[in-house]
Amino acid sequence: MKGVVLAGGLGSRLYPLTKITNKHLLPIYDLPMIYYPIMTLVDAGIEDILVVTGGNSAGEFLRLLGNGTAFGLKGLGYTYQEKEGGIAEAVSLSKDFVGNSKFVIILGDNILDGSIKDAVQGFEKGKGAKIILKEVENPQDYGVPVIKKGRVTQVIEKPKVPPSNYAVIGVYMYDKSVFNIIENLEPSKRGELEITDVNDIYARKGELSYSIFDGEWMDAGVSIDSYLEVNNYVAKRKKENPHYWRLRDAGN
Ligand code: DAU
Repeated sequence: MKGVVLAGGLGSRLYPLTKITNKHLLPIYDLPMIYYPIMTLVDAGIEDILVVTGGNSAGEFLRLLGNGTAFGLKGLGYTYQEKEGGIAEAVSLSKDFVGNSKFVIILGDNILDGSIKDAVQGFEKGKGAKIILKEVENPQDYGVPVIKKGRVTQVIEKPKVPPSNYAVIGVYMYDKSVFNIIENLEPSKRGELEITDVNDIYARKGELSYSIFDGEWMDAGVSIDSYLEVNNYVAKRKKENPHYWRLRDAGN
């Protein structure tokens, strides 16, 4: 399986911190934000990653991450999203990189305290798409699944009245059929190609499987308070266990 980290977008909810730099270069305690999703993929056994960046300071990712050997990666590539056209549009830029492989996408502002290894390995033999869910107190801030008889039948983006207490976390797995779906997608009201619409199509076809994440999951980009909360959480975890979130030689 290959891996894709999405680090585009304008990060406008964290303005002015993101006015001149890219959100995913901001610190989470003692490491740049993008280190964490990369480490999550590496822990899941992914050795070949594409970073999709965009907006401000895109060139700085190359200076920061280089060829990825510090993370133990075999290959690290980069591409650039011209506009903030949505998560699904960013995913479409990985088509050539992915080829015939299955792949796992992680949003660059998602910080996971726990492993997705089993979920990823489980999809190696799977088909269609797979999402990961986490029970939360504020599902209305995220993509939310409709679950009927243990199956996801629909996915709704930031619903006013959430149909379940689960959030779709920013980790998605697909086979190459996703590129055809994205090519035929219509932009949403906010003018973006939505990953939730992609997942909803798979759900309605009965091709969307899921796992429940049993660790802690955080989205550092929801608000300045969520950003601060994630920093405090990671600082606490690292003080409890200094080996936490440290790879062989992740430059720290
Ligand atoms: O964090 C999980 C949530 O992420 C999901 O529950 C939602 O269904 C999903 O839509 C997404 O919601 P957000 O409102 O948090 O998405 P945001 O616009 O913050 O984008 C998340 C990441 O995706 C961001 O760190 C960078 C990347 N991105 C985003 C856009 C809009 C891109 O690379 N390009 C883009 O055009």
